[in-house]
Amino acid sequence: MNSVNGSTKILGVMGDPIEHTGSPAIHNLLADKLGDNMIYVPFHVKGRRLEEAVAGAYALGIEGLNVTVPHKVEVMQYVTELDDAALEIGAVNTLARIRGGYKGYNTDFSGFMRELDSVDIQVNGRNVIVLGAGGAAKAVMYALKRFSAGHVYILNRSIEKAEDIFGKEPNTSIMGFGDWNKIPEGKYICVQCTSVGLSPDDEACVIDDEGFYDLIDSAVDLIYKPKETAFMRKVISHGGRAYNGLRMLVYQAVSSYEFFTKKEVPEEIIEELYNELDS
Ligand code: ATR
Repeated sequence: MNSVNGSTKILGVMGDPIEHTGSPAIHNLLADKLGDNMIYVPFHVKGRRLEEAVAGAYALGIEGLNVTVPHKVEVMQYVTELDDAALEIGAVNTLARIRGGYKGYNTDFSGFMRELDSVDIQVNGRNVIVLGAGGAAKAVMYALKRFSAGHVYILNRSIEKAEDIFGKEPNTSIMGFGDWNKIPEGKYICVQCTSVGLSPDDEACVIDDEGFYDLIDSAVDLIYKPKETAFMRKVISHGGRAYNGLRMLVYQAVSSYEFFTKKEVPEEIIEELYNELDS
């Protein structure tokens, strides 16, 4: 790691809890690889101190911040400017310093788009199945729209909640997991956005019926621990290809880093970073 001196820029991630975050490891590795004089640290910020934390960070000259659970929506009130995509998604995970405060961005959606690109999943005109309707699904839905997906089937445990969030989206159907067989026959891209299957529940899968997996030719599970989820194994055993969420994680961090430093991270550095995190 670079040694800290009088010109070191400070960045970090705010959340509650924060101990589990992988962002410092990724950002400090990136800074090291790129020779940038910066250090990225975790900040444990409680909800009621969020406004103060953003103002205090600005006063301290902090260059940029990531924002994680549970602050991604509330922090939108405390930014000086808001990127259009973040406004439409309704969540901010990146604060980049500008004159007078921070500009809020959402790099979860760009991370997902860059993952799809890197594994050559072409969404344009394709019908898609989205499993889950939480915060991650919102960023995914926005990315699918930007990539001009065809019809999207959202399956969620709570249909009411999914209706509240996505009920007004065009070309979108909402149903429960048990209704998967109402999806018209064909081949679909599927994005797994629930937390089911996350380590240590490695064998759990949101839809167990084997027949469902005949509908899928390519899939991304946003989970990256374990590296291969039960959902991914089922897709693969039915002849599809499946990727975990590690590339999305890396690309969302890279996109944030690019907003913080206002320079592009070369593709070979991203690949190196991905390989180191994957090993
Ligand atoms: P994230 O930010 O990771 O998307 P979230 O907003 O809490 O987290 O969303 C979690 C998603 O996983 C939701 O779609 C949730 O379903 P509900 O909307 O019905 O709560 C889904 N989920 C979590 N645990 C689940 C379980 N045991 N079975 C089915 N779905 C589950």
